[in-house]
Amino acid sequence: MPQRPVTELRTARLLLRPPEPRDLEPFALMCADPEVMEHIGLGRPLDRASAELGFATLLERWRRDGAGLFTVVRLEDDAYLGFAGTAPVPQHSVAGGETEVGWRLRRSAWGVGVATEAARAVLADVVDRRPDARVVALIRPANARSRRVAEKLGLVEETTGAGPRGETVVVYGGQAAACSIQSR
Ligand SMILES: CC(C)(COP(=O)(O)OP(=O)(O)OC[C@H]1O[C@@H](n2cnc3c(N)ncnc32)[C@H](O)[C@@H]1OP(=O)(O)O)[C@@H](O)C(=O)NCCC(=O)NCCS
Repeated sequence: MPQRPVTELRTARLLLRPPEPRDLEPFALMCADPEVMEHIGLGRPLDRASAELGFATLLERWRRDGAGLFTVVRLEDDAYLGFAGTAPVPQHSVAGGETEVGWRLRRSAWGVGVATEAARAVLADVVDRRPDARVVALIRPANARSRRVAEKLGLVEETTGAGPRGETVVVYGGQAAACSIQSR
């Protein structure tokens, strides 16, 4: 992706900003919640060491690419809600090499449209950087909430295959431009 200075994204209720070291604590808490992690990877919560590793990877991607998973905070009180953004799909996975748009929120933030609101801002930013970009979302078949988010964004179910850890995932895909102008 072409490089340009990292910006913050704002929506009606949210601020999306590149992650900072102070986000590690709430990130680790979120990833230690079995309900949050039920449909991610192999479905296990992350212990502290794995969360630290995951967070370091997230910081490193921003340093390397100038893009990645944004920290999502509530504008009203700066509360950490989770993350949303993009990541490259590993080559050995179904949809390998494509750009994945992803989202993960702490349990108390679910159910009020935060993921969709954040993902729309992410997609608009993707289009800003690369108007012809295609994005995918790899979602475990039983993750009905996440599948609904993908559908609301205008992504279309394309195929099913083995995800990065060999888990079965449904691939949703589409042009980011078509998704970011869609508002349902
Ligand atoms: C997936 C996740 C990000 C959704 O966040 P959210 O802010 O609650 O999502 P939204 O409110 O924007 O949209 C959720 C949609 O799913 C619907 N939904 C909720 N529970 C559902 C269920 N059990 N079955 C089907 N749809 C459901 C909601 O009604 C809403 O759709 P609507 O706007 O048409 O009513 C959140 O649940 C999460 O962080 N889960 C754990 C991490 C995760 O699985 N990440 C995705 C990995 S692919």
